[in-house]
Amino acid sequence: MSETPRKILVTSALPYANGPIHIGHLVEYIQTDIWVRYQKMRGNECWYVCADDAHGTPIMLRARAEGITPEELIARVSQEHQADFAGFGIAFDNYGSTHSDENRALASQIYLANREAGHISTRTIQRPYDPQENMFLPDRFIKGTCPKCGAEDQYGDNCEVCGATYSPSELKDPFSAVSGATPTQKDTEQYFFDLGHFEKSLKDWTRGGQLQAAIAAKLNEWFEGGLKDWEISRDAPYFGFEIPEAPNKFFYVWMDAPIGYMASFKQLCDKAGLDFDAWWAKDSDTELYHFIGKDIAYFHTLFWPAMLEGAGLRRPTKVFCHGFLTVDGAKMSKSRGTFIKARTYLDHLNPEALRYYFAAKLSDGIDDIDLNLEDFVQRVNSDLVGKVVNIASRCAGFIKKRFDGKLAAELSEPELFHTFVRAGDEIAALYEARAFGRAVREIMALADLANQYIDEQAPWVVAKQDGRDAELHAICSMGIELFRVLIGYLRPILPGITAQSEAFLQIEPLTWDKIAEPLGGHTVAKFKPLMTRIDSDQVSKMVEQSKDDLAAEPKATAKVAASGPLAKNPIGETIDFDAFAKVDLRVVRIAKAEHVQGADKLLRLTLDLGGETRNVFAGIKSAYNPEDLEGRLTVMVANLAPRKMKFGVSEGMVLAAGPGGKELFILNPDDGAQPGMKVK
Ligand code: MSP
Ligand code: ZN
Repeated sequence: MSETPRKILVTSALPYANGPIHIGHLVEYIQTDIWVRYQKMRGNECWYVCADDAHGTPIMLRARAEGITPEELIARVSQEHQADFAGFGIAFDNYGSTHSDENRALASQIYLANREAGHISTRTIQRPYDPQENMFLPDRFIKGTCPKCGAEDQYGDNCEVCGATYSPSELKDPFSAVSGATPTQKDTEQYFFDLGHFEKSLKDWTRGGQLQAAIAAKLNEWFEGGLKDWEISRDAPYFGFEIPEAPNKFFYVWMDAPIGYMASFKQLCDKAGLDFDAWWAKDSDTELYHFIGKDIAYFHTLFWPAMLEGAGLRRPTKVFCHGFLTVDGAKMSKSRGTFIKARTYLDHLNPEALRYYFAAKLSDGIDDIDLNLEDFVQRVNSDLVGKVVNIASRCAGFIKKRFDGKLAAELSEPELFHTFVRAGDEIAALYEARAFGRAVREIMALADLANQYIDEQAPWVVAKQDGRDAELHAICSMGIELFRVLIGYLRPILPGITAQSEAFLQIEPLTWDKIAEPLGGHTVAKFKPLMTRIDSDQVSKMVEQSKDDLAAEPKATAKVAASGPLAKNPIGETIDFDAFAKVDLRVVRIAKAEHVQGADKLLRLTLDLGGETRNVFAGIKSAYNPEDLEGRLTVMVANLAPRKMKFGVSEGMVLAAGPGGKELFILNPDDGAQPGMKVK
């Protein structure tokens, strides 16, 4: 390439270290990876870094709930995240953690520089406090009754029943989700970053074409609302970095998270011998791009550039936002099995298929992206298997068998080849602009042309006729030449299929410039199938397994837990209304209760559901004498699948509360209730 290579640093948002990577996340990492691979193919110096976002209250509490240290939790999750990303061919040049020495040093450097420049102030404010746990509570950890619709057990920031948003102080009957205690208000001195100091420069920066139009419009709204100063500190206990010269005060997770981009890059610089300071200097000639979801635009387009400016560092060249993933037109749902983890997908399907499908759907905008599972199967099969791979598989056999793997020296249809090459500039421009969907359409239009050529020439007919060897050679060589161009264009999207194709073609990894050079006279290897058709059965199995994942690990996704009454029984995964509605709870009368021979925990209960009786084994022997139970009302899960136990089949389950032993209490409806009544 004749132009001087650009120097480009690219990031994707740092995934939180308290949950697995799911296909929603993958929209972003696949989008970024495609763009980076394209830049590398162009011969630019392009680096892609990311890290786990390891700090904050949820991670601290999650580790506590699992009985491990936060460090152990984040080490394990980091391994899982990196394995998932690798499975999808996402090729970071460095993957770090916000809980690293590099990040600690950079966070304090940036904080101190801002403090020196007068952008940090302190103020005493009131914050919700859990008097039992002795900790301040983030909004997410205060629950209560919705002030609008009266729904109970709602989070402090919004109601999942009526959709209202409010502040935790508006909740009725608030309680701490950590201990169950009623929160109090407590004074605390906190550190603030004066965002208002940057109003003018932020306006200039955000209006200078750095942002997509929709995001710039959103920013205008924020400017109109006024830029409020930003609380960057949190009190202990907190998993994060202590603020320099501020004992027991920690940087809020969002303060050191974007600095994690720099910290990860610093690790790369140390490995690869790059000049870190030159990349981050105010007048740097390098480019910096952040790929993020639209939900975190505020942090990346206001706080982050302001903090960098306040510390005398360069700002991002551009921030690229994308929309959210929906599956079959709806938000990903655990009960429908569409909350699909990266790992679950990999257990059933080819990662290249998802990369291709997302690419085909991605644009430079912030609209949501729908993964329609039926369309996914159909599209991947028809485009990748039916069009692209098919070109090679229809020509390669003849080349190998009849011509010893050697391609014809001359192109038989130079015009067609040049049509393919000429499209390259347009496709390149589309990649550069992140209009991947349009790039895919251009490439598939070329694939159609190639297939049309092969259909017309019908090499399988020519092959059967004597004296037409040269023709057969010309046609199949032409097919392979066109296939190579297509693979070159698809390379940023399909790293796996490309690598296999390059092995088949016996060529070096393709660069963008090389695409235009025909192979002529080159020898190719034996062709192996590059991709097989997806069966919709694989998709169904993945969806089923996603439902199982949910059942298998309620605790792994527990949102809260500590050491109060709720702490021993962390409130787990929320379920949606559909899942809840499936549980059939009934009032029952305990018709008979008896000891079970040989069982030290179980009682055998005969339950009367008002007409029907059930046999249930209940582990309540430590708390009840059978005779005290007979005649009492209680509540059972009536639609639990029967379970074969050592002593017989159990046909349901009765509900009881308490830690166990003597302290176990079966539920007891008031007397007016009748056996068989549905519990709502
Ligand atoms: N830790 C913060 C980012 C800090 S960056 C300094 C965070 N983490 S996240 O795990 O919640 O999300 C990581 C990225 O994935 C974000 O850019 C987010 O927008 C994106 N996505 C998470 N769920 C998504 C979908 N369902 N669809 C598309 N992108 C999604 O935010
Ligand atoms: Zn409500």
